[in-house]
Amino acid sequence: MRPGLLCAALLLLASPALADDERVRPVTDPVVRKECGACHMAFQPAFLPARSWDRLMAGLSDHFGEEASLPADKTEIIRAYLTANAGDKGGQGEARKFMRWVAPQGMPLRITENPAFLRKHRFPDAVWKDPKVVTRSNCPACHGRADQGLYE
Ligand code: HEC
Ligand code: HEC
Repeated sequence: MRPGLLCAALLLLASPALADDERVRPVTDPVVRKECGACHMAFQPAFLPARSWDRLMAGLSDHFGEEASLPADKTEIIRAYLTANAGDKGGQGEARKFMRWVAPQGMPLRITENPAFLRKHRFPDAVWKDPKVVTRSNCPACHGRADQGLYE
């Protein structure tokens, strides 16, 4: 094989592995995708530890100022999914970096206040006020494949 071809073949072999390593496992559960994707993207559970998801799911009646309560059976399905796939249950991809900043007993509710997030998102105010962005929580505004767990 010519060296150029060999290189191309190696790249082909190597790139899926790299992508897998950095990819944050996307939300696959249809109930979570629907109910937690109604107002914003359904955030990947790997960005918060399980105890955060327990706390968030216990407080849906005042969810960042919104009433987001759900029937008990749906709440439990979602809680179970989010906690089983949480960042402290073998945090995946880029989300691994977020877990390092969470205190052992810490229960943050926001992904966007994590120092791992803040360090990568030091943009001028004008960026956040852009009508296409509006809020830090609007990951897909800048990360076209955020919903698939791809933040490169
Ligand atoms: C009725 C609308 C609504 C629904 C439904 C909803 N949310 Fe939210 N959520 C919000 C709002 C509003 C915010 C605050 C956004 C902001 O600060 O810009 C938010 C923020 C969040 C954040 C913090 C984002 C950050 O800034 O780091 C998480 C995590 C979250 N929601 C998870 C969920 C989960 C899990 C569900 C499903 C059980 C859900 N949300 C359903 C409206 C909703
Ligand atoms: C205003 C645009 C914007 C928004 C909104 C935004 N990001 Fe980003 N994000 C970026 C840019 C630009 C970078 C690359 C910064 C760098 O490499 O220094 C980045 C980097 C990242 C990285 C690190 C990727 C890497 O390869 O190092 C992660 C993880 C990430 N963002 C997650 C999120 C999540 C989760 C949300 C929503 C809660 C979000 N971002 C919202 C623009 C944005």
